[in-house]
Amino acid sequence: MGIGHTRWATHGKPSEENAHPHANASGTLMLVHNGIIENYQTLRHQLAARGYTFSSETDTEVVAHLIDAEYDGDLVQAVKRALRKVSGTFGLVVMHARHPEQLVAARRGSPMVLGVGNGEMLVASDVAAFLRLTDKVVYLEDDDVVSITRQEFVIDTLADERVERQAQQIEWQPDAVELNGYPHYMLKEIFEQPEAITNALRGRLLPGEGIANLGGLRSVLDRLKEAHHLVIVSCGTSYYAGLYGRYVFEKLTDLIVEVEVASEMRYRKTNIRPGSVVLAISQSGETADTIAAMREAGRKGALLLGLVNVVGSTISRITEAGVYNHAGPEIGVASTKIFTSQCCILVMMALLLGRCKHLSITDGMEIVAGLERLPEQIAAVLKQADYIRTIAEAYARYRNFLFIGRKYNYPIALEGALKLKEISYVHAEGCAAGEMKHGFIAMIDENFPTVCLATKDTTYEKTLSNMLEIKSRNGKIIAVATEGDEEIAHIADHVIYTPPNLDFLQPIPAAVALQLFAYYSAVARGCEIDQPRNLAKSVTVE
Ligand code: F6R
Repeated sequence: MGIGHTRWATHGKPSEENAHPHANASGTLMLVHNGIIENYQTLRHQLAARGYTFSSETDTEVVAHLIDAEYDGDLVQAVKRALRKVSGTFGLVVMHARHPEQLVAARRGSPMVLGVGNGEMLVASDVAAFLRLTDKVVYLEDDDVVSITRQEFVIDTLADERVERQAQQIEWQPDAVELNGYPHYMLKEIFEQPEAITNALRGRLLPGEGIANLGGLRSVLDRLKEAHHLVIVSCGTSYYAGLYGRYVFEKLTDLIVEVEVASEMRYRKTNIRPGSVVLAISQSGETADTIAAMREAGRKGALLLGLVNVVGSTISRITEAGVYNHAGPEIGVASTKIFTSQCCILVMMALLLGRCKHLSITDGMEIVAGLERLPEQIAAVLKQADYIRTIAEAYARYRNFLFIGRKYNYPIALEGALKLKEISYVHAEGCAAGEMKHGFIAMIDENFPTVCLATKDTTYEKTLSNMLEIKSRNGKIIAVATEGDEEIAHIADHVIYTPPNLDFLQPIPAAVALQLFAYYSAVARGCEIDQPRNLAKSVTVE
């Protein structure tokens, strides 16, 4: 029996004292905690007045002492009484020397799953943590308190009611969490993209009808057909997928589309009202800001949808309908295969709604054919990995990068910059190519290279002009362009070619080229790849 927690400090500096597990004074009770105890100062003062002393600056240690103060021989009851005094979020696991065969776990706001193994029980904040050991999972709900022994588990609510939760079988294969010969999960996941896209599309396209068939939306399709207002809400890479989705929804449907950063939307007065559709995009399905924004939207009467990778995650449970990525676990902190999978699914959602409205069958058939070409087109980009590595190595000494793109390529530019900065710690900014002359171009000189997304679409000529502006300021250019475009090679210092497709589908393989560029840049700089500093895979706190 054991507990552990890998984390970055939210309270106090990262030090041994502040590291988990935290204990009561005698060391008989130990716990690990994910989340934030908001009233920890008040609790700390109350406990200090009763003679408790603290050896760390953390909010978590307060809970260890609080449970100790409530303990009278029954660990489950002590945990419940203590947690009733706590405000904030927690996924926590407690062990006690006098209960050597028992763990007690509880959650509110932070994810927690129970794995039912063969003669063993496992509890974690993410199923990927124990996928090697079991595929039977119980998804715990907020305010569940579970008492675990080797053979069984019993779940009560904090209000002392017994609840039954069934174990579910998860589809992910155990080897999905192995490196399988790759040096990093990020590289493995980049190379898994042809398969991830195939899985996203599988059984969901009707080529003869030129339409998508999304089973997860069937129950709400009539309401979707009547909707006029779509709000997409997400964070980070999922937000950039949402930005890409807006362009595609605007092209294929008549919806008014807004895209919101979840941490901003949750505190804003919005236009969301009954009849609005709010779509959360989230790999983990556990991002605290996205969950909070969705709860707000639900309060305003919106239809809540999810585009989520982790089956059974909180967002999949608080939304009325949605679509899963079916992309398998993503372990590298930098999101790669899920981004392109999200983009493809957004195209399918827009296609479905567009075809239910004015979009013609011939247009629909063309889009289906374009989507079906994506796995092999991504594979064609992956074949250029060595070439992209040489470019990344050639630019490894630069400390600043600009990423530009227009229209469908604009979100890809933002995502390319995010990938580079988060794993290689160099300064990278994405901007709409047309915005360059409104400020960004001031930074350009021979030490400030630009990555230009310049695949062939209606804005291509304009992007080319932007590239000339950069050249005339001695800026170096790495271009991502459509195969066969020879003109661009006269302007750019390096060109990565991606296969031709419909204008709004070409950015998806282009995104893969930028993922490889970021990956090899970080390797060339000797950076930690899968766990970049200060970042967590699931951001379960505000
Ligand atoms: C960047 C990255 C993050 C996440 C963001 C949202 O590579 O992975 O920006 O995209 O934290 O996470 P999810 O999609 O789980 O809601």
